Parts: sequence; structure tokens; C-alpha cells
Amino acid sequence: MQTIIEPFRIKSVEPLRKTTVEERSGYLERAGYNLFLIDAEEILIDLLTDSGTSAMSTGQWAAMMRGDESYAGSPSYYRLKRAVEDLTGFRHVIPTHQGRAAERILFTVLCKPGHVIPNNTHFDTTRANIEFTGAEALDLVRAESADTQAQLPFKGDMDVERLERVIAGYGPGRIPLIMLTVTNNSGGGQPVSMANIEAVSAAARRNGIPFYLDACRFAENAWFIREREAGYKDWSPKQIAQKMFSLADGCTFSAKKDAFANIGGLLCTNDDRLAQQEKDLLILTEGFPTYGGLAGRDLEAIAVGLGEVLEPDYLEYRIASTRYLGRHIADRGVPIVEPPGGHAIYIDAGRMLGHIPKHEFPAQSLAVELYRHAGIRSVEIGSVMFGEHARNELLRLAIPRRVYTQSHIDYVVEAVLEVNARKEGLRGYEITSQPEFLRHFSCRFRPL
Ligand code: F0G
Repeated sequence: MQTIIEPFRIKSVEPLRKTTVEERSGYLERAGYNLFLIDAEEILIDLLTDSGTSAMSTGQWAAMMRGDESYAGSPSYYRLKRAVEDLTGFRHVIPTHQGRAAERILFTVLCKPGHVIPNNTHFDTTRANIEFTGAEALDLVRAESADTQAQLPFKGDMDVERLERVIAGYGPGRIPLIMLTVTNNSGGGQPVSMANIEAVSAAARRNGIPFYLDACRFAENAWFIREREAGYKDWSPKQIAQKMFSLADGCTFSAKKDAFANIGGLLCTNDDRLAQQEKDLLILTEGFPTYGGLAGRDLEAIAVGLGEVLEPDYLEYRIASTRYLGRHIADRGVPIVEPPGGHAIYIDAGRMLGHIPKHEFPAQSLAVELYRHAGIRSVEIGSVMFGEHARNELLRLAIPRRVYTQSHIDYVVEAVLEVNARKEGLRGYEITSQPEFLRHFSCRFRPL
């Protein structure tokens, strides 16, 4: 059989609420044209993020009933710890309430002004948490990835020669860690090859610099390695993931992605002294090290999710369904970041809306129109989010895990194509108010 099906059936459903174009125009005006400020009940299909939006399995819900809520030494923590150790081999497993809490603790302990932290591409919270310590966040993704149309298997790879030059230039003493984000979310959800993880790991070790994975989407990355990199087709996704982690000294992880949990994160390390400092800080703001800001039941959901996400049937369906959305719009003339990534499709709005200049936020304009037209929420990943660091003006359609069916995606395809057919009518936006950090969450716009 050729057809790739959803490898699950539905047991519990949530109704969706339809609204009219007029209603949505009113909601947009009220929200200052920022889709983060629109209420979820006013959204039909929510592709804002794949984070914390997964449908949990019966296995996860059953495990949650077993959640032990002891303040210290909960068996739920030890079940999670064993699951993470089995997968990653890291000596210290520190739960946090989500990925950015792990980032904040790691960077607070390791970074100070004058430091530089290389990554393929830092995600917005990663960059902001680094900059908040006074250190500098450096994006070193391979140059070919800037061409959204280039068909390359591993566009998330870091440029290792540039990394070597950066290390030589700044000196290892100013680089407290090197990171790789798998898959590269801000760079189009593109995977990183095992060869590149090995090369970055080797460069870090040669220079005595710790190497960390931002492992949010490690399972999707592992599947791409299996499909695209020579030598891995007979490996299980778990074996590939284990090898990825074995090359690193630690990781930050948002369990809201590739663990199907609605909340949670992890900070892992092999460094005993660092782990102690991290746990001290954890107690200050997150909680005791055996729960780290989570309920015992959340720890259980993550432990089970980490196993389910590596099921080959799930990953085959996951990557195929993202590709389905990408091919159906790209093959009908909508430029996307090619090839389709793991968790999302990124429309190249800069290219699609060539008449709207970068400083008038073409991807924001597209996000607003897609919502007004069809009730679909997406997110701008361009100059609104990254300011002058933005390399492209992208609109991300992130696909929550195990949530939407193929007919939902067909509806999205139709909506994107209808907006594309009248794209000349779309106009730019200007920002009328914004906060100091992470402005995309709360700034307000005015149509031009
Ligand atoms: N790193 C990456 C690569 C991410 O994509 C995210 C979150 C984080 C770190 C932070 O994790 O949300 O648990 O604190 N990305 C979400 C997104 C928000 O929509 O892409 P968190």
C-alpha cells in the first residue's frame, strides 16, 4: 500500500468554532493586527505553533494518573530520568517548566558579557536569553541555506569552517558553549546531518568547549537522517537519536515538541559541577530538582512521549503530512522554504509579496490575510521577530502533532492558494508600539 495514514484513531474530540470574515476583521483591529493577541476561540485552524499543542495518547493519559506529586524524590521523576538516560546517556537530567527555563538556567550559569555563543540558528528565546546575560548570540548556518529555493538535504547544517574561524578569532575562552538546534526551527525546520553534528562536536572537543544540542525536535531530525543520509536507512530512529546525543555534552529540550507534552522541558549535562550550579538556580525559580516546575503527572507524560515520538510509523506519517502541505502549495506557485521541513511549512513571503518591502513586514501582511480570509493562524518569522538579524521574511505554518486531519490541511491549502491568487492587493504594515525584548509577542501594527 502507498497511502500513508495517521497511525492513530480519534477517541476524544474538540469542536472548532467558525467565524465570518467580518468578525475576524473586527478581531484583527482589536488585536492591533498581532495574531498572538487574538483569542484562541476566534481561530479555526491554529498553526501558530507546534509547541505544547500536541494531542496526547491514551498511554500518556494513563501514565498521568500514575503521576506522583511528592515534592522530593517522586517515582515519576525517576521514570522520566530513566527514559532520558536511555535516550541521551546524559548524567544529569534536570526538569524545567519549558525549554526556555532550561536555556535561562544554562546561560545564566555559563555566559557573561564578552562571551559569544555560536549556533546554526538561535531560536528567538535562545537568542534573547543569551543577550539578556550580556553575551552575543551568533548564527553560523551554512550560507546555501539563505536561498529558500535550494533543494539540499541538510540545510540546518552549521558552517564548520566559519565556526573554526570564530573560535580562532575570539579564542575558546570567550566561547562557553557551542550549540546546534535540531531541527533548525528559525531556519525553516531544516535538519542537521549526523556528519555535521560529528564535525561540530569534534571542533568543540578539540578546543575544549562544551557542545550542546537544542534538542526540541530531535526525533524529526533523526528521521531525516534516516531518510537522507547515507548509512542510516537500517537504523531505528532511536538508535540515530542516541548517536546524536552521544556526540554532545548536554542539551536543552522543550518537551512541548518532540515529547507530545503540553508543558515541560529538560536541561541535561555530563558536567557534575555545572549540574550543581544549575540545580541551585533551579531551586530558586523553578522548584526542587526532582520536579523542576512541573507536576509529577507532567513528568510521566514526557517519559511516555519520548518513547512514542520515536515510533517509525509516527515519524513516517509526521514528515509525510508536513511534506503534503508543502508540496500542495509550492507546486501551485507559492514559494516555500525548500525542501519542506519537519514540523512546519515556511512560506517565503518576501518572495511571494515582492511589492512589500522588508521594513513593511510582508510575512506579517500574509499572516493577517490568511487569518482574515480563512481563520487560520500562522506566525511571522522575519523582521518582526528577529529585527535586523532576519535573513528571510518567512510565514510559518506549524503543524501541531497528531491534531489535525488531512481535510484540515486541504482547507489550509485552499486558503493559501486563494490568498496567493490575489496577492497584489496585500499591503504592508508598520509597528505602532513594541516592548524592549521579543517584540513579536505583543507589538501592535497599523496597515499602510
Ligand atoms: N528552542 C527551539 C528551537 C524552539 O523552537 C523553542 C520553542 C524553544 C527553544 C523554547 O522552548 O517554548 O518550551 O520555552 N519554540 C516554539 C515555537 C515556541 O513556536 O517554535 P519553550
